[in-house]
Amino acid sequence: MNDQPSPEKILHTGMAFWASKTLLSAVEMGVFTELGHGPETFEALNGRLGLHPRSARDFLDALVALGFLVRTDATYANAPETDLFLDKGKPSYVGGILEMANHRLFGHWFHLTEALRTGLPQNEAKGTGEGVFESLYADPARLREFLSAMTGVSRGANMAIARAFPWAQYRTFADVGTAQGDLAVQIARAHPHLRGTGFDLPEVAPIFEEYAAGAGVAERLTFQPGDFFKQDLPKADVILMGHILHDWDLPTKKMLIQKAYAAVPAGGAFIAYDTIIDDARTQNAFGLLMSLNMLIETPGGFDYTGGECAAWMKEAGFSSVRVEHLVGPDSMVVAVK
Ligand SMILES: C[S@@+](CC[C@H](N)C(=O)[O-])C[C@H]1O[C@@H](n2cnc3c(N)ncnc32)[C@H](O)[C@@H]1O
Repeated sequence: MNDQPSPEKILHTGMAFWASKTLLSAVEMGVFTELGHGPETFEALNGRLGLHPRSARDFLDALVALGFLVRTDATYANAPETDLFLDKGKPSYVGGILEMANHRLFGHWFHLTEALRTGLPQNEAKGTGEGVFESLYADPARLREFLSAMTGVSRGANMAIARAFPWAQYRTFADVGTAQGDLAVQIARAHPHLRGTGFDLPEVAPIFEEYAAGAGVAERLTFQPGDFFKQDLPKADVILMGHILHDWDLPTKKMLIQKAYAAVPAGGAFIAYDTIIDDARTQNAFGLLMSLNMLIETPGGFDYTGGECAAWMKEAGFSSVRVEHLVGPDSMVVAVK
């Protein structure tokens, strides 16, 4: 009978790490980049990837069964999604987040139970007393990987913000905690009348500048090095913070909102976007899991509901606040001064 409980979802979720790690290893080994040049026979692909004979067929056919590759006779090809989003040769590549998941998060999440019991981070900063950004930024390769991971996770929402917000009313914007600068780039590309600032820690400068130049919008985007704990935010008609508020504890969230309020003129706007949790906290599983990821990654960060964020923004002085869905689990909270 179909109203009987089934263990299917329990087993599917409990064993989801098998599928997850198979996809992450495929990204690590460059399977989709290799097939981005065109379909290949089993022998040619296997030779390039250096798979062991025991694993080769099962690995590639598991990727077929999961929907990431397509096999016709003995020829393998990318599925449309992996071809567009996981071929490193294409500008639409979003695999940076999966590279970081593979190198860092997969191992750190092994210690989730400890984090749940202690409330303490389980990443490189574990036991050091340092914040995640100090430990990440001490190693240039890890810094670059982290910043490009941010682009991967944020691209869809960045394009939605560039499309959905009434940019025609404004002339300047500043993206605070800009990372590689994808949000600033998407907005600048879509709206030639705008000039933007990317604000982030000084180590980020060359990576932002290289990315903005590659996107052809460097003449309208400026990087401003700074630390939002020590400095005011750059003045602009619109201040944006993507995946910033969730990194920090409540007093820091409120301090950042207050600094955003001070940085915009009357009529100016502040846009905060994150994997905003639904007000009832029952639907946006990705947002709730993201909040657990903040438990693993930061000393005090957590994700929040639209209602909570709207209340903090009103408390800071903003006169009107609205929550708008972007894509997937991401929403933005728009506050107008
Ligand atoms: C989670 S990332 C978000 C990146 C990007 N906005 C996005 O949504 O993809 C957080 C960003 O905040 C920056 N950041 C951390 N601490 C900062 C500080 N004290 N001052 C300025 N930026 C900081 C980091 O360098 C990083 O780029």
